[in-house]
Amino acid sequence: MSTAPSIPQITLTRPDDWHLHVRDGEALRTVVPHTAAQFGRAIIMPNLKPPVTTAAQAVAYRERIQAAVPPGVSFEPLMTLYLTDNLPADEIARAKAAGVVAVKLYPAGATTNSDAGVTDIRKTYKTLEALQREGLLLLVHGEVTSPDIDLFDREAVFIEQQLQPLRRDFPELKIVMEHITTKEAAQYVAEAGPFTAATITAHHLLFNRNAIFTGGIRPHYYCLPVLKRETHRLALVAAATSGSDRFFLGTDSAPHPAHLKEHASGCAGCYTAHAAIEMYAEAFDAAGALDKLEGFASFFGADFYGLPRNSGQITLRRESWVSPDSFAFGETELKPLRGGEALPWKLVA
Ligand code: NCD
Ligand code: ZN
Repeated sequence: MSTAPSIPQITLTRPDDWHLHVRDGEALRTVVPHTAAQFGRAIIMPNLKPPVTTAAQAVAYRERIQAAVPPGVSFEPLMTLYLTDNLPADEIARAKAAGVVAVKLYPAGATTNSDAGVTDIRKTYKTLEALQREGLLLLVHGEVTSPDIDLFDREAVFIEQQLQPLRRDFPELKIVMEHITTKEAAQYVAEAGPFTAATITAHHLLFNRNAIFTGGIRPHYYCLPVLKRETHRLALVAAATSGSDRFFLGTDSAPHPAHLKEHASGCAGCYTAHAAIEMYAEAFDAAGALDKLEGFASFFGADFYGLPRNSGQITLRRESWVSPDSFAFGETELKPLRGGEALPWKLVA
C-alpha cells in the first residue's frame, strides 16, 4: 500500500469482504453491483428463506449472484452452507467439491432468518468432524440466545459457554468468529491460536450504541450483534489496526426493505455495501492507522482461508462526497447506513 501525508490518497490491493448478505431475487441487482465495485470476492451468508443447506443450492445461488454482476466486472462469490441440527456429514464433501468454502453456525433464534439454526452444538459434531477433515471453515455467529442473558452480554457469554468447548473439541478446525463487537471477543481471538480469527464490520469500528438512540430511535443503526459501548468500540479499533493477521474485514452488510427496518419490530441489519471500504478507510484514518488497512482488508482474510491474495488494486481519496440516501430494492426501498451524509473518503478507481 502507498500513502504519503502530502497526497491524500491510498492505493490498496483489491480487498475482499469476508461476511456479506446479498439476499436473492431482484434484490441482487441492487446490492451485488455495490459489492463487486469494491471487492474481489465476498463470503456469501446462507441465511435465505429457506436457508442454503445443500451443495446444489449453494451452486444455484452462486449462479444467481453471478448473473447480477455487471458486465466487465470481476467478482467471485464464495459460498457457504447453513449449519442445522441435521446437516448430514456427507454433504460436506459434496460442498467442498462444489467450491463451498465454509459452513455458518447460527444459534437458533440469534438473528435474522436463524430459526433453522443449531439448537445444541453437540448435535452437529459429526458434521464438524467432516468440516475439520475436509478443511472447510466454520463461521460462527457468536451470541447465546437465552432470554436470561442480557442482550449486551450475549457475545461474551457465548465465548465462555460455547466457543471455548468447541475450540477444545476441534483443535484444527478453522473458526471465524463473525462480526465481533466486544473487547472480550477481541481478546479471546487474539489469544486463541492460529486456527481462530474474527471479522469486524465498519459500523462497529465507527459507532457505539449511542448511535442507535441519538435524537430518537434510529433503526438503521440496529444490527446483531448490537452496537456496544465505547470501550468495546475502542478495543475493536485496536484489534483491527494492530497488524494481527487474525482480524480481517467482513462488512456484515445486511440489506432489509426500509419499511421493515422502520417498523414496530424492526429487522436487524445495517446496509453498508454502497460505501464499505470508504467507511473502513475513515475508521482507520481516525485511528492514525491507514498503513494497516491493506493487511486487514486485502491480505489476512485470504491468508486465513488459504486462498490467493487478489492482484488488482483500488484507490481511495480523501474527498468529501454524499452517498445516495435510498436505492431501489426489488419492489421496495433500501436505505443505506449514512445515506445522504457526507463521507470523508471516496473510492476513485
Ligand atoms: C443479518 C441479516 O440481516 O441477515 N443481520 C444483522 O443484524 N447482522 C444477520 C446476521 O449476520 O446476524
Ligand atoms: Zn451477517
